[in-house]
Amino acid sequence: MTGIKITDTILRDAHQSLIATRMKLEDMLPIAEKLDNVGFYALEVWGGATFDACLRFLNEDPWYRLRELRKAFKKTKLQMLLRGQNLLGYKHYPDDVVEEFVKKSIENGIDIIRIFDALNDVRNIKTSIEATKKYGGHAQGAICYTTSPVHNIDYYVDLAMEMEKLGVDSICIKDMSGILLPYTAEKLVKEMKKKIKVPIEIHSHFTSGIANQTYLKAIEAGADIIDTAISPMGNGTSQPATEPMIVALEGSPYYPTDINMELLLEVSDYFKKLKDKYLNEGLLNSKVLSVDVKTLIYQVPGGMLSNLVSQLKNQGKEYLLEEVLKEVPKVRKDFGYPPLVTPMSQMVGTQSVFNVVLGERYKMIPTEAKNYVKGLYGKPTLEISDEIRKKIIGDEEVFTGRPADLLEPELDQLKEEIKELIEQDEDVLTYALFPQVALEFFKKRHASKYKIDHDLLNEEFNVYPV
Ligand code: CO
Repeated sequence: MTGIKITDTILRDAHQSLIATRMKLEDMLPIAEKLDNVGFYALEVWGGATFDACLRFLNEDPWYRLRELRKAFKKTKLQMLLRGQNLLGYKHYPDDVVEEFVKKSIENGIDIIRIFDALNDVRNIKTSIEATKKYGGHAQGAICYTTSPVHNIDYYVDLAMEMEKLGVDSICIKDMSGILLPYTAEKLVKEMKKKIKVPIEIHSHFTSGIANQTYLKAIEAGADIIDTAISPMGNGTSQPATEPMIVALEGSPYYPTDINMELLLEVSDYFKKLKDKYLNEGLLNSKVLSVDVKTLIYQVPGGMLSNLVSQLKNQGKEYLLEEVLKEVPKVRKDFGYPPLVTPMSQMVGTQSVFNVVLGERYKMIPTEAKNYVKGLYGKPTLEISDEIRKKIIGDEEVFTGRPADLLEPELDQLKEEIKELIEQDEDVLTYALFPQVALEFFKKRHASKYKIDHDLLNEEFNVYPV
């Protein structure tokens, strides 16, 4: 392949960003063969919120989805997004669960695992990187991009070097909020290229309307791979649209010659129809398709903004939004400048809402925030001040080790707990991540099977296991 390599995100981040991760497998498979032949370097198809959404909203087994996609994509590498020690859930899991999850992801068809930690604490991505290498996958270390007095070029270059030392096969600069500016990206990529050997990939969101320019400067500075989404599901809060990005590179050495543009346009037509369907069903709100400059001002990711709005709405306090948005950077500073990505975005957001709604800062503190200050999520970018620490956890001790070192192996116990409902090895992982949702899913699955068997027999076998 010559020119820039392209990873398309239409089957993961694009629909996670635009339609709350509701694209179904049945919407993906009809176009898979064509999509496979377009000539993308990779397709991001799994991980992130897809796992949760499959179980919770789509009544789909995420593992089944992955296997079906693997069967359908014979040429293109499949990529997933993994939250390091949090896997695809919202807390740290013990190393045995992490290793098994990575192993099964690769066994079921994943080639590239993009691994990040919300705090950029490399101790939280070490186990998953090592497991990815062990089971023959491509481990990509992702750096969460954010801005603050401490998040400068040197910080990111050092982080990339640390990841390279851990053995990653590539580095991703992950700009989840779409705030990476073109000339910063240029400098960042140039400096990284001087210090690291592995390829660099740029991942941004079009949210604030600048990602195209950012990509172009990053490409000129030597970035190897960019993340885009086929146009009907591109731009807005999603990745920059694929087709215009490619066309813009015509006449340059960066033009991706492996892309079959004609086929890509056919694929694009398919997704255009799907997009119309999503619009008609009300799944796609045209709001997320337009440029939101507020992101640049508040540096708050789109998803976080809508969460804040709905939290305030629930309490009939929407009029406090402006005040909450002013509180967010203050809480973020108090918390040592975490990047605003799951779970830190929720934590900082909820604390900000509490601080404003209750009329007193840190009057109420959610357990997650306490655990964060205790060091149970990892190391804050900047140390939290004594004053804030005392306000949040009093005289309780702060843990400074690797958070997962506190966790005992639990795979065997989990297996024991659900041995009655298990139908495949992967079920125990599903259960480990989302116990309640998984149990409901397993029971439904079991019941529907019983129903089929029963229908095949006769009415007298009127037995339902749930
Ligand atoms: Co993203």
